[in-house]
Amino acid sequence: MINSEKLSKTNFNVDAIRADFPILHQQMNGHDLVFLDTGASAQKPKQVIEAMVSVMQSDYANVHRGVYSLSQRSTDLFEASREKVARFINAPDEDSVVFTRGATEAINLVAFSYGQRLVPGDEILTTEIEHHSNIVPWQMIAERQGAKVVFAPITDDGELDMEAVRALITNRTKIVAAAHVSNTMGTVLPIKELARLAHRVGAVMIADGCQAAPHLPVDVQDLNVDFYAFSSHKVYGPTGIGVLYGRPDILIDMPPYQGGGEMIETVEKTGSTFKLPPHRFEAGTPAIIEAVGLGAAIDYITSVGIEAAGAHETEVCAHAETLLRSMPEVEILGRPNSKTSVLSFNVKGAHAHDVGTILDQQGVAIRAGQHCAQTVMDRFGLHATARASFGMYNTLAEAEALARAVSKTIEIFG
Ligand SMILES: Cc1ncc(COP(=O)(O)O)c(C=O)c1O
Repeated sequence: MINSEKLSKTNFNVDAIRADFPILHQQMNGHDLVFLDTGASAQKPKQVIEAMVSVMQSDYANVHRGVYSLSQRSTDLFEASREKVARFINAPDEDSVVFTRGATEAINLVAFSYGQRLVPGDEILTTEIEHHSNIVPWQMIAERQGAKVVFAPITDDGELDMEAVRALITNRTKIVAAAHVSNTMGTVLPIKELARLAHRVGAVMIADGCQAAPHLPVDVQDLNVDFYAFSSHKVYGPTGIGVLYGRPDILIDMPPYQGGGEMIETVEKTGSTFKLPPHRFEAGTPAIIEAVGLGAAIDYITSVGIEAAGAHETEVCAHAETLLRSMPEVEILGRPNSKTSVLSFNVKGAHAHDVGTILDQQGVAIRAGQHCAQTVMDRFGLHATARASFGMYNTLAEAEALARAVSKTIEIFG
């Protein structure tokens, strides 16, 4: 393992990072665990685990409600996490950061709140590269409002076909929804340009940042998006919490998504009035412990440096790609110019699930299936792929372990 790291050009201290992730130091099926499924969910550093234990042991009470000191302390920690998120994505202020259950809920919030203004004939432009969570909510609200979902195509290389996009964004387009980074091929989409094209026709732009926030610096003001969604569990934080950034002047005009406690100003038998954003969109007791965990995860990424981590992950992914591309029996999905740390592939003659199982027997944990991206599978005429995805804790040696395990799979399938 050590020798491979000498090849690294990024000088990233991956050993120090690995020491922070207790789960990585175990054997799986008689081999060192090689965890290559960070795209589905990242592992957690001890700093996140400790912050969550600490709030439960010393600072926990319900937030925004208590007049007593412990509740105030808990509220301060919860709101401090919102400020950390705002800084992490360069939001103009913390009130533009809504805590949700995850990226999926964040996109649903925009669909079912902002989407209420759609009228028959309006169009929502999404793309063939999306995760289902950036397709299905749009189909649901389009059906309800009599609007239409239009899909921008992707090229054979796995990039967004921008010529087609330019033709598809018209005066009928009211919402443009696209992934910042593809969860199947790692393609980085030109979100800033998409936002420009959307704004030119008066549409809003929502970026699904699930696979971008863990790997790239995100600046929502520079991207000039109206909405940006991501999940805590993919940025080394806990499950159960995610983020919706919304442009303040848009959020303020949006109706609540759910009703309940915490989000109201007054409740009378004749009706209720609602708080200002973000609280208007946070009905019920929020994920308090998880918010603290997310704050700790952001502190962790910031202390490592997202650029340094991203460069390291790209290097490890590229090493794996070079090794797999040298095997004639392996087919790799897409060849985008600009990509992050996701690699989808198939071994000729083998089902992706069998590849995943054989790799697991060698301690290599990858994902196999459609990756909640059926439109991508359809585009390439596939049923499934094997997918390796990389985090800041992966090593060049692990990329080599993946390649060895794939070679073994090829041997088994003859
Ligand atoms: C690109 C993308 N969007 C959205 C999601 C959904 O995230 P969550 O299940 O955390 O809501 C995922 C999860 O894999 C994803 O990769």
